[in-house]
Amino acid sequence: MNILIVGTGYVGLATGIALAKKGHKVRFYDKDKEKIKLLKKGKLFFFEPLLQEALKEFTKNQNVFFFDNLKEALENIEIVFVCVGTPILKDGRTNSKDIEKAIKEIKKYATKDLVVAIKSTINPKVYTSIKNILASSKFHLSVNPEFLREGSALNDSLNPSRIVIGTENEYAKKILDKLYAPFEAPKIFTDPMSAILTKYASNAFLAMKISFINEIANLSDRIGANIDDIALGTGLDPRIGKDYLKAGIGFGGSCLPKDTKNMVKYAKEIGIRLDLINSVNKINERQYKVVIEKLQKHLVSLKSRTIAIFGLSFKGDTDDLRNSISLKIIKDLEKEGAILRLHDYLAFKKAKKIINNAFISDIPYFVAEGSEAIVIATDWKEYSHLDWEKIRKLMKGNLIIDGRNILDKDLLKKIGFVYEGIGRK
Ligand SMILES: NC(=O)c1ccc[n+]([C@@H]2O[C@H](COP(=O)([O-])OP(=O)(O)OC[C@H]3O[C@@H](n4cnc5c(N)ncnc54)[C@H](O)[C@@H]3O)[C@@H](O)[C@H]2O)c1
Repeated sequence: MNILIVGTGYVGLATGIALAKKGHKVRFYDKDKEKIKLLKKGKLFFFEPLLQEALKEFTKNQNVFFFDNLKEALENIEIVFVCVGTPILKDGRTNSKDIEKAIKEIKKYATKDLVVAIKSTINPKVYTSIKNILASSKFHLSVNPEFLREGSALNDSLNPSRIVIGTENEYAKKILDKLYAPFEAPKIFTDPMSAILTKYASNAFLAMKISFINEIANLSDRIGANIDDIALGTGLDPRIGKDYLKAGIGFGGSCLPKDTKNMVKYAKEIGIRLDLINSVNKINERQYKVVIEKLQKHLVSLKSRTIAIFGLSFKGDTDDLRNSISLKIIKDLEKEGAILRLHDYLAFKKAKKIINNAFISDIPYFVAEGSEAIVIATDWKEYSHLDWEKIRKLMKGNLIIDGRNILDKDLLKKIGFVYEGIGRK
């Protein structure tokens, strides 16, 4: 089938490349001409495992095409996937400027029947606005939420846990059913509002598990219990499940904080209180403060103290800094007058553009040099394989705050570190 992807970010590229791998002809359009220029050369402008290689392969195979002109890109297209960003405003409402602009342009240039599948995360209000813009029998609208995870985006797109298609339009249903035939995942056909809520409910539930275990970890810290054992003992109950029960300093990224806040805000606007999800957000917003408290417990004043932060991206295996918890910690430490040394394997380049007055490197040993404490802020698995004896010698102090509970605390203590995890005895 002839497919067009509008918006070439994580979701757009992973979706399009996965569809190309299944034998479809895929065009990509983005309003950002620079991105399209790079993509035409087979280059990705962000880090995502496997996507770079797949992009090169498919650009060569002529199965994948890039456009900076939507009118041309839309010629002979049967399905368009809308994958543009849907950020939120400070007050939690959706900033629907980009998605509405994309929809209006699709309306302007479409010349024949078109299935429009919305992959961007939207709330019911935005859906209604899109539906009104596309109120013509030519457009067959559906909501097809995306559940991929950054760091495994292509794999998730190729092997989704489920495919949710929300539509009131029989033609859209038939075409999307055919398109997704080569995928083995269960398909859930439903109405648009239920598809929208399935996406929000999924993200809210994941966020809830994280805030839940973080709250228990804070209690565990106080009474001297071990959150690793608690999470295992709790998560092995099949009704609960052990995924997303890793205690730490909170969730960041471009989805969970945005979608949970947006959900609460939207519900409030229509007179519904989402107390549980609101609490999940509140717990998350303050959770990172445990790092500052633990540093102060050991160092007392943080003024002119040299502190190394290991990890800047919102999670390992990505260079995405959006809503990163690490950046919140950095801001607080700057206010306290600490001297900062920052490490990330990938996000160091992006970080250099937004953080001044800090030494930033992709080599952890350089960053550790002369520091009084190290904070693990991102769950890069590489951190657990570092030469910690060497790091101990390079440091001025010996404090480790493991904000992601990924290091071997017994080993570190043996080397001579003072170790603090989150809720780890
Ligand atoms: N990143 C994730 O892990 C993830 C997972 C599931 C769902 N989502 C949702 O998917 C959507 C996209 O997320 P993303 O992370 O891929 O975003 P992104 O910011 O990486 O990419 C969005 C792209 O859309 C382009 N764009 C914006 N307005 C446009 C327009 N009018 N026409 C054409 N292109 C336009 C931007 O230039 C950008 O390249 C969001 O709604 C997000 O909430 C994201």
